[in-house]
Order: sequence, then structure tokens, then C-alpha cells
Amino acid sequence: MILIQITIDGPAGAGKSTIAKMIAKRLGFIHIDTGAIYRVITYIAMQQNVCLDNEDALVQLIASTKIDMEQQAEGEQKVFCNNIDVSKEIRDPIISKNVSRVAVLPKVRQELVRMQRELAQDKNVVMDGRDAGTVILPHAECKIFLTASLEERTYRRYLELKQRGYNDELEFVKKDLARRDYIDENRKTSPLKPAQDAVIVDTTCLGPEEVVQEILRIYQEKKEALNNVL
Ligand code: DC
Repeated sequence: MILIQITIDGPAGAGKSTIAKMIAKRLGFIHIDTGAIYRVITYIAMQQNVCLDNEDALVQLIASTKIDMEQQAEGEQKVFCNNIDVSKEIRDPIISKNVSRVAVLPKVRQELVRMQRELAQDKNVVMDGRDAGTVILPHAECKIFLTASLEERTYRRYLELKQRGYNDELEFVKKDLARRDYIDENRKTSPLKPAQDAVIVDTTCLGPEEVVQEILRIYQEKKEALNNVL
């Protein structure tokens, strides 16, 4: 069987994790949510009072932290930090607010990219993040860059937070997303940008199923092209 890796990058709120999860389930691939890994490190650093700007302390913390991801039958993914389920805790707004501080540090990224590559090695995966197609898996066969207008992403994130019991104002959610976009797009190490060979999919006016169908179509095209070469 040929190995096919799918990367899905894009800004916060574009729907990467939801779509990656759906695609992985349809294709029977493993889903690797790289943002969750940055969130776990932010969470454990805050728990252990490690300064979020202290790069060397964070690298040490990464070395002593065990991160596991477990796919549930329903497609949900559980994230464990040192064998404790932290799936809910890592989505808390306090983590969302602070995670970019950790994600901006080059040595932290270097360690986590190594971990992410190991997770994907020799497997059919759908990996979502910011640098999956540009840095983590530069040779991935199918690269997608998911995007949507800031207004649409704000509304989606607002509804998601509401569902989880947080009542943040729409304007606050918008400012926070715009701030994270700015940090992600302008950091020196692996800034958020589409890979040269990525297909850009604008999801502003599309529902999840339409996005999944479009990506599956792109995947089929890439797969047929690969089969013709082999
Ligand atoms: O996708 P997310 O919101 O769960 O990501 C959390 C943070 O981690 C986000 O601020 C950007 C960062 N991130 C990154 O820098 N590189 C990745 N591959 C994934 C996420």
C-alpha cells in the first residue's frame, strides 16, 4: 500500500481539527493534532509554574513530559499528559491565550517538531497545525491550507466556546483570534503560511461536510497521480 500523508494548516478557527478528524475517520488514517501538543506543554508549564518565556526550562519540561493521543471509536481524540486525561483542560481560554508565547520559541518548536515527525513516521496520517506542510512533513503527498474570513472564524469560535460553557463577548473572541493570527504569521521560526504546493481551501461559505468532500476530492486526485507515477 502506498503511504499518503495529508497536512492541513491554517489560522485558528478555520476548522482544521474538526475537518482533520472527519477526514481521518473516513480514510482510516491517524489524526495528529499538533496544536494539542503545544497546548499540553503550555498547560503543564503553567501547572508547574515554569515561566512561559524560559526556553531552556521548557525544553527540559518537554523531555520529562509524556504526551499520548488516543483516538476514540466516535472519532474524538483524547490527549494525555503524564497519563492524565487533559483533553478538556488544554482547550481552556487561559491556555489559548498563552500558547502562542510557547509556540514562538525556536528550541521548543525544534523539540516538538521532532516528536510530531516520530508520531507520523511510516503512517498514513492527517496532521493539522500551522507548519505541518511547510516544516513537519515537507514531503507530504497532499497539503491543504484551510482558511476563512476573520468574521466567520470568530463566529465559529464564539459558538464553540458557548457550547463549552464560556460566555466570552464576540468582540473579545475576534480580538483574541486576530492577535493569535498576527503572532502565528509573524514569528521568525516556521510562521504560518501555505506550503508552495498546498491547495488553499476557503471555508467561509462552506459547511464541514462540503469541506470534507472537497479535500477528499483533492486527496483522490493526488493519489491517482501518485499511482500513475509508480
Ligand atoms: O490549533 P490550535 O489553536 O490548537 O493551536 C494552538 C497554538 O499552537 C496556536 O496558537 C499556534 C500554535 N501551533 C503552532 O505554532 N504550530 C503548530 N503546528 C500547531 C499549533
